[in-house]
Amino acid sequence: MPVRFKRRKFIQLVGAGAFGSAFSQFAFGQTPYNELKIPPLLVGENTTGVEKYALKVQSGESRFLSGLTTPTIGVNGNYLGPTVRFAQGSNVAVNIDNSLDEVTTLHWHGLHVPANVDGGPAQEIASGTQRQVAFNIMQKAGTFWYHSHRLNKTGEQVYHGMAGMVIIDDQESSALELPATYGVDDIPLIVQDRRFNSDGTFRYISMHRDVMTGVFGDTVLVNGTVSPIFSPTTTLVRFRLLNAANARTFNFAFDDQRSFHVIASDGGLLGQGVKLRNLELAPSERAEILVDFSDGEPANLLSLPIAANSPFAPQGMMRNMHPLDTDAMQILAVVPQSDLSRSTDIPAALSEIHRLSPQQADRVRDFVLSMPMGMGMRMRGNQSAGSRNSGRGRSGMMGNMGSEFLINGRAMDMARIDERVPVGSTEIWRIRNDSMMTHPFHLHHGQFQILDRDGIAPAAHELGYKDTVRVAPGSTVRFIMKFENFPDANTTYMYHCHILEHEDNGMMGQFTVE
Ligand code: C2O
Ligand code: CU
Ligand code: CU
Repeated sequence: MPVRFKRRKFIQLVGAGAFGSAFSQFAFGQTPYNELKIPPLLVGENTTGVEKYALKVQSGESRFLSGLTTPTIGVNGNYLGPTVRFAQGSNVAVNIDNSLDEVTTLHWHGLHVPANVDGGPAQEIASGTQRQVAFNIMQKAGTFWYHSHRLNKTGEQVYHGMAGMVIIDDQESSALELPATYGVDDIPLIVQDRRFNSDGTFRYISMHRDVMTGVFGDTVLVNGTVSPIFSPTTTLVRFRLLNAANARTFNFAFDDQRSFHVIASDGGLLGQGVKLRNLELAPSERAEILVDFSDGEPANLLSLPIAANSPFAPQGMMRNMHPLDTDAMQILAVVPQSDLSRSTDIPAALSEIHRLSPQQADRVRDFVLSMPMGMGMRMRGNQSAGSRNSGRGRSGMMGNMGSEFLINGRAMDMARIDERVPVGSTEIWRIRNDSMMTHPFHLHHGQFQILDRDGIAPAAHELGYKDTVRVAPGSTVRFIMKFENFPDANTTYMYHCHILEHEDNGMMGQFTVE
């Protein structure tokens, strides 16, 4: 499809990056751009009050690098999956067909659903089999996702493409007249970084450091597109940002330093838009942003390095361990078309967020994240010795310098339920990070509200609903959540670090709502 843009202005931008030398490597003209792929939309087929969806997990081949093919995993396609669209209040039934030659699971990240349809590591779908899940969409509109949650293999399967976006609509958000035409002015951006071998295959874990820091890559994929370009046709564009990287935190900003409005966090709309010039999202975090292109000028969406003095920057010996969110990366070139159609203004009020107060909590639970490190640790990866279900043992590549990924001193064990939450209770979870790098802590079942980080209230764009929270090295985060619905004493939900290599190597636990 031909892309019309103002060539003169486009070229003016070359080398004119407002952020200086860090961006010279992204000079226009060096890279052939590819039109941003938009994942197909999958809407339900309504039969007698149930919306039916079919997802087929399959292996495929993708072309990311010229002349090379990359073996990948996709859902209803070769890489990633369709954007699944649900409406609040509807009953949905999803048939998940696993045509891979390995086990998988399909987890609904951020969705408030019963534990037995949540798609955690216990809900394996064997190769060549199908699993039907049915649930009611109870929550507010927002941007969510689905991905593999296979025990010890989540990182590898997601890296190869086993993920997709979920959009939930409700009447409140539809009434707002936000940009909402999918693929036109409402644009999913599934952002990932990847690394390749010279034969075109993905280079997943190849050394011990990859487990320690999580796997970082030098090539950005947006919706599976390398060097993507997008040409708005409207003055205002809503981007649904999903950090679907295994480990990297993106620090989104435009190279001309234009501001944007954050209108939604992980769990849906904020109370009102928050104007920012940069936004850090850790793995699995989402944000919806509105960007004004009425000036017609092209702009590059970038990821800036995390500032060295940021509380989220790595500490101690981790500081010298490259790569850790220290790269500047090109994410998306945006080149508006010449006659933009005029969008409606950004509404002043978006949603009403009823903030829970700490006084409402029935109890406080404590979690400590740690990464004890040492030389000559015991060998791991021998799954037959001891519990077959042990959550560790992924890594024969731990080498002679080991590390462990623990929550409250323990590594994930499928045979152990770590916490039991009485249904209906409101709890404060206090997460302390005893390690030298940031961990994005996520839990299933619902959406929480961040109370504070070391006693300091979160920034305005984090005052809405969240299901993942960044916990900086040495700090303690408190969040509050009401655990409503779906009592089940026998089926667990997960809480874990969403750096997938940490999750796969033990930094995960199980809880019930009962
Ligand atoms: Cu995004 Cu337990 O997962
Ligand atoms: Cu999840
Ligand atoms: Cu972690």
